[in-house]
Amino acid sequence: MKAAIVYATTTENTERLAGAALEGARAAGYEASIATADSADASETLSADLILLGSPAMGAEQLEDSMESFFSEIEGSLSGKKVGLFGSYDWGDGQWLSDWEERVKNAGADFAGSVKSQLSPDEEALEAVKKLAGK
Ligand SMILES: Cc1cc2nc3c(=O)[nH]c(=O)nc-3n(C[C@H](O)[C@H](O)[C@H](O)COP(=O)(O)O)c2cc1C
Repeated sequence: MKAAIVYATTTENTERLAGAALEGARAAGYEASIATADSADASETLSADLILLGSPAMGAEQLEDSMESFFSEIEGSLSGKKVGLFGSYDWGDGQWLSDWEERVKNAGADFAGSVKSQLSPDEEALEAVKKLAGK
């Protein structure tokens, strides 16, 4: 079973969550890969049994640009795929992640859950993302 983790980050907060996702996926027995959104391969990502995507809240409750462009590329092919989301935010209420969840569900994916952390993830958020990656 393969897990693909693709993330974007600007100050490494989402990257820390991505690292925990990698740990969790491997601990659960997945053959896991990790890549940034600007270097990830869409078809390779889509071939994974579990797809975990991470992005900080940017703009006004939007995905970071490179994740927006990567996600747009795979969005139409997510039907039936197991997808989990994670990311970091600061002053908002998590709207960027709720909107992203809606897009994943509207694409017909099997939504596995999401984890958010305000700024740098604490132990609880890291554990939650590890658990998400074990699904
Ligand atoms: C240009 C910019 C736009 C941002 N927009 C939002 C936002 O709309 N909502 C929010 O909650 N946080 C926003 N933030 C805060 C970031 O999401 C937060 O700093 C996050 O921890 C960054 O994660 P990263 O280190 O993975 O990039 C913004 C930060 C920047 C620099």
